[in-house]
Amino acid sequence: MRKKKEQPVIPDVPITDMGAEGKAIARLDGMVVFVPYVVPGDIADIKIIKKKKNYAEGRAVAIKQLSPKRVEPQCPHFGVCGGCRWQNLNYADQLAGKAQQVRDNLERLGHVDCSAMQPICGSERIFHYRNKLEFTFSTRSWQEVPPAEDIPALGFHVPTVFDKVLNIEKCVLQDDLSNRIRLAVRDYANEHGMSYYDILNHTGCLRNLIIRNTDTGQWMVVVIFAQQDEGWQGLMDHLRDTFPQISSLQYIVNTKFNDSYSELPAVTYAGADSIEETMQGFEGAPDLHFSIRPQTFYQTNSAQAQRLYSFVARYAELKPTDTVYDLYTGTGTIALFLAHLCHRVVGIEYVEDSILAARQNALHNQISNVEFHAGDMAKVLTPEFVALHGQPDVVITDPPRAGMHEKVVEQLLAMRPRRIVYVSCNPATQARDLELLATAYRVGRIQPVDMFPHTQHIENIAELILSE
Ligand SMILES: C[S@@+](CC[C@H](N)C(=O)[O-])C[C@H]1O[C@@H](n2cnc3c(N)ncnc32)[C@H](O)[C@@H]1O
Repeated sequence: MRKKKEQPVIPDVPITDMGAEGKAIARLDGMVVFVPYVVPGDIADIKIIKKKKNYAEGRAVAIKQLSPKRVEPQCPHFGVCGGCRWQNLNYADQLAGKAQQVRDNLERLGHVDCSAMQPICGSERIFHYRNKLEFTFSTRSWQEVPPAEDIPALGFHVPTVFDKVLNIEKCVLQDDLSNRIRLAVRDYANEHGMSYYDILNHTGCLRNLIIRNTDTGQWMVVVIFAQQDEGWQGLMDHLRDTFPQISSLQYIVNTKFNDSYSELPAVTYAGADSIEETMQGFEGAPDLHFSIRPQTFYQTNSAQAQRLYSFVARYAELKPTDTVYDLYTGTGTIALFLAHLCHRVVGIEYVEDSILAARQNALHNQISNVEFHAGDMAKVLTPEFVALHGQPDVVITDPPRAGMHEKVVEQLLAMRPRRIVYVSCNPATQARDLELLATAYRVGRIQPVDMFPHTQHIENIAELILSE
């Protein structure tokens, strides 16, 4: 067999920009090279590991000069875990890089006029900002130098390795109580010889651990068992007795071959069956209260969600007589946030459970001018639906990463709402959709919002105004 040619190391390559997927960018003879774990301003020796037609992937084998933009990562697992790729870059530069990515995508892919782009809205909390973390138990710990014998682990999957888990000692994304709870679970399990789930052989007891908290100070812990071996109750008692902060302690039994637990019953072991998050109402409106159960979707950075929604409310410029459609409504949070500003809101979403939660959220907040419909957007949002539920004056759309189906875009163009507020977690697909909408809409303000500091993710809002 012919041996693969070893690629040479290219010395002293300047790293120039932040790129997609948390990788930095260098340029070699005009070719873009994506390199992980270096930052703009570094000078590094680069080895090319993959060459494609228009770009290459590289690895920094030595960093010759450290960028002044670097900061010391706070996470002891930085560089391995893969969750916070930009923790070694100072936050102001992270924000500048993310804003530039939004601008580049919109201008290059969507030919959008970005002259009214607003300064990116950074997160006040750049650590401990998440309200939910999900950990996995595994019989195989991921280690840089693989151990002779498998060691069990409780932590996160490392990228691209499905059967191994990185033992997490400390994660700086959620309040530190989350670390204490996870370590207490691990210590108890090890001291009492509890078995960890083995994904290859489908054996063992402990499978996942979900920790959620709210800005109101409530904590939910959900232990997912693959089977309830002897000792499971001891672990639950230990958690209940050690952490009075846990207001909802629950468990789920998942005997399936995959980790999804969305359809499995959760059993309350101690405390309440839900925790409650509060969101400040828009400009003096009453606060909203959301009841969160183990499976409920809620934006993971609560404080930034509030700011994101406030931009949406401002850009929507609602009148008391307006009918609003909230497309991809999830659990109805945007719809409920806007409800007091307009005549009525119609939310559409394809996950039936989310629609049920949205209706419960409406009841819980005594909001009656909202209605929610479940189904695939391209099939639900039809001329018949509009005839039945009323012509929207304003549409909010917040699609998944893939953006909107072209039929949805066509329907928007047919409905001709006065304004569209487009919230997106993927500026590339947003750019594509904005270009399609450009026949009838001009883009006004553009507002990037950073919901996830240190990660590659960015949220962007575009205000679309119907052309005369
Ligand atoms: C980015 S989330 C929006 C969340 C929501 N607006 C919020 O702020 O919490 C996108 C939502 O679109 C839903 N979704 C994805 N594809 C869909 C489709 N084809 N039809 C309807 N809803 C869809 C997802 O289930 C998810 O709830």
